[in-house]
This record gives sequence, structure tokens and C-alpha cells, in this order.
Amino acid sequence: MWKEIPEKVSQEQITFDVRELEPILSGPSLKLPPYEPEMAKLKDGSYLYIRPLEKDEVPKLLPFVKKLLDVDHDFYDIVGVRVYGELLGWYRNRLKDPYFMIGTINGKLAGFANARVMNNGIHISLHSMAFVRGLRVGAIMYYAKAKYAFEKLGAKEWWATYESYNGFKRWGLGMAQPSYPWPDVQHELGGAKVYYVTKEYWDLSIKDYLKQLVKTELEPASAEVAEANKELIIPDSPVV
Ligand SMILES: CC(C)(COP(=O)(O)OP(=O)(O)OC[C@H]1O[C@@H](n2cnc3c(N)ncnc32)[C@H](O)[C@@H]1OP(=O)(O)O)[C@@H](O)C(=O)NCCC(=O)NCCS
Repeated sequence: MWKEIPEKVSQEQITFDVRELEPILSGPSLKLPPYEPEMAKLKDGSYLYIRPLEKDEVPKLLPFVKKLLDVDHDFYDIVGVRVYGELLGWYRNRLKDPYFMIGTINGKLAGFANARVMNNGIHISLHSMAFVRGLRVGAIMYYAKAKYAFEKLGAKEWWATYESYNGFKRWGLGMAQPSYPWPDVQHELGGAKVYYVTKEYWDLSIKDYLKQLVKTELEPASAEVAEANKELIIPDSPVV
């Protein structure tokens, strides 16, 4: 926009260092207490090790996630492209207060989950993915991020939505999540319906989800399992 000035000025041009613009575009980040690594025994007896994804690991993960865009079944493509955007959004400071976790089995990438803090009450569930099928890795990843939100970050409400039938079956139905009236309330993922969990409902019921429906439990990661997962191995291509 352009408008004539109402006063004489000593400098007609004022320049800015882009570092002065960045705080306006990205805002301050919350200091979130870290997710402490956990593990869960899987159906085949192996352990899923869940830990925070480090920001400097994002470039290593992106080429793998990019390949999900070509997986045209079970909604891996649309979830993949959204996850790609969220990883870049975090890496380039264009996503407010996200948290990311990965699950590995003997170091090999097996699962992914992320969410973000919208405000001091509501956390937005973004995505969960399984890169190994049939072991309920995805179910555990989602539970782990919701547990972190409610029990460590003090979330009062968890807002989710579902692209896929598997996701809806796992958590929308599996956790018997109610929804807000739609389209009055919309999720940031495409304006879809918001399914939600309150802290009260988490404490009353959903805490038992893993035991009831996934037949496992999350426990603090043992030194042995942490050691077995020390090195992150990212497959060349997804086999899902
Ligand atoms: C949704 C998702 C995370 C669930 O992961 P999960 O809990 O590990 O479960 P899976 O998808 O592997 O399997 C779902 C069911 O189908 C069966 N199944 C599906 N594909 C299978 C395969 N290729 N091999 C073996 N079993 C398979 C599983 O045995 C399982 O049955 P169960 O309910 O009796 O355990 C996963 O399907 C996924 O990543 N989908 C693409 C991304 C997505 O949709 N994310 C969620 C958005 S809402």
C-alpha cells in the first residue's frame, strides 16, 4: 500500500534486518518439558521405542516422508504430504509449538506422531503413522502423544480429526471420542469435524485404551532398549 506522508521526515527510507521481521512472523515458542522416552511390547514380542524427534533430524526424515506421497492406499499420500508440511513448518519456524515423536524397532523407523499446542487449554492432534503394519504401532504412537499432552503438558482438551478409516477405527471409535457440531467447529486439517477428548474423559476412561484395545502398556524405556535404538535407521522406501 502507498499513502502520502502527513509530516516532514528526516529519513524517507527505513530498512529492516529480516531478523527483526522473523519474531513477528514466527512468534515466541513455548518451553515444553521434554517427552521422556517410553517403550511398549508389541504383538510379536519386540519393543517399540518412542522418543522425541530432534529438530536437526528433520532433513534426514524428509526424503523418506516425500516417498509417502506416492503411496496411493490407506491415505498414506494425504497424511504423508501433510506430515511433510508439518516437518518443514517446524524446521522453518512456521508451525506454532509442535511436538514430534518417532517410534523405532531396533533402531528402524516404525512410527510417527505429532501434535501442537494451540493455547494453554487445547492441543491439536496432527498425525500418526505406522511404517510397519499389523503390529499396532500407529495405535501406540497416538496414545503416547495424547498421554504426553495430558499428563506432562497439562492439556485440558485434545482436538483430533481423521483422514483414514484405520485412524477413525483406531481412535475415533476405539476411544469413543465425541465430536463438536460441524461445520460450526472445524479442525485445522481441512476444516474436518473435530473429535475431542477432555482431561476428565482421559482420566476416567482413555488411560486404559492401550491395555484394553492394543493389549500392551507404555513404560519408561529400559537402558537395554534405548541402547538397541541408539542409531536411527530410516528405510530407503516405505513398505506399507
Ligand atoms: C492409521 C494407522 C496409523 C494405524 O496404524 P496401526 O495401529 O499400526 O494399524 P495398521 O494400520 O497397521 O493395521 C490396522 C488393522 O489392519 C490390519 N492390517 C492392515 N494392513 C495390514 C498389513 N499390510 N499387514 C498386516 N496387517 C494389516 C492390522 O492387522 C490391523 O488390525 P487390528 O485392528 O486387528 O490390529 C496406519 O494405518 C497408518 O499409518 N495409516 C496411514 C496414515 C493414517 O491414516 N494416519 C492416521 C490419519 S487419521
